[in-house]
Amino acid sequence: MKGILLHGGHGTRLRPLTHTGPKQLLPIANKPMSEYCINSIKETGAKEIAIIIGGLGANKVKEYYGDGSKFGVKISYIEQDEPRGIAHAINLCKDFIGNEKFIVFLGDNIIQKNIQNFAKKFEESDADALILLCEVDDPSRFGIADIKNDQIVKIIEKPKNPPTNFAVTGIYFLTPVIFKMIKNLKPSWRNELEITDALQILLENKYKIIYDTITDYWKDTGTPEDIIHANGAILNKMEPYFYGTKEDGAKIEGKLMIGKNSIIQKDVEIKGPVIIGENCIIESKTKIGPNISIGNNTLISEVDIAESIIMSDCIIKGKLKIRNSIISKNSTITFTEQYNENERIFLLGEGTKILF
Ligand code: G1P
Repeated sequence: MKGILLHGGHGTRLRPLTHTGPKQLLPIANKPMSEYCINSIKETGAKEIAIIIGGLGANKVKEYYGDGSKFGVKISYIEQDEPRGIAHAINLCKDFIGNEKFIVFLGDNIIQKNIQNFAKKFEESDADALILLCEVDDPSRFGIADIKNDQIVKIIEKPKNPPTNFAVTGIYFLTPVIFKMIKNLKPSWRNELEITDALQILLENKYKIIYDTITDYWKDTGTPEDIIHANGAILNKMEPYFYGTKEDGAKIEGKLMIGKNSIIQKDVEIKGPVIIGENCIIESKTKIGPNISIGNNTLISEVDIAESIIMSDCIIKGKLKIRNSIISKNSTITFTEQYNENERIFLLGEGTKILF
């Protein structure tokens, strides 16, 4: 089996976080979200992965993943000139795939379950596609599968009146027959070649699509809230480690993952799960957690912060209550007024400075 990772797009819904790079490189628990996808693809046994890049910061993707050797896979890059849809991106990989079965993973989809068994089921079956479904509360945001007697009878992209709540997740097991279907596709209302339409044509031509369901965690990280949620879910499953130092009087409750040369000063309160990178200083009287990620070289002082992501090289100082925020790298927030109870939300692009 080979793997395809989709890493393009403009990330418009996540601006200003995506002004300086692709959304799939935004960190979840201090690792780019697409690295979780690479790990999932590896679980299928795939050793060769094509990453589709395009749009802003495509070079950053190449810089991070290189030839893949650091990640235990062989990576090649295929450029998509414009975001013209998932099916269009898959079609660019025709030569790379050859005659093999393959998995396509959207780089903004996060799951926790090991997908090895799904891959095995697909490898051993004679199906032309296996899709993974997940029940959602807001089906009009997704591709939806209509199911009758345990068979998929229709697949529709973002329907106004969804026949079921089963979202088609961005994890597709496919065979090269899909390329023939993509040939006959017309652009959708959003001017994209939709993978859901290609799957629907498979069904109409009597090819066999089987499915399985993800009953634990799955998230399409389309919004800041989704990313913050996925961050909490991943942190909750991590094994704690402690390579930093803690001064007497600091209180730590729950899971903490802390990197080397990071210091937790006295009177700090940490409520896990929390991850702190390397070379960070958490100054006295700071309250952190739950569900907090802090990148490398960041200083936090006196803040009360929960449910948020702070990237590397930031300074966050003052008697501030921060919730549901994403603060990109190299940002500074300095607050000099007296503490008040108001919760503040920040969504800051790289290099932002706020002094108030
Ligand atoms: C895409 C697919 C959709 C699928 C979703 C999963 O949607 O078109 O069928 O349910 O990914 O993440 P998009 O993120 O492009 O809106």
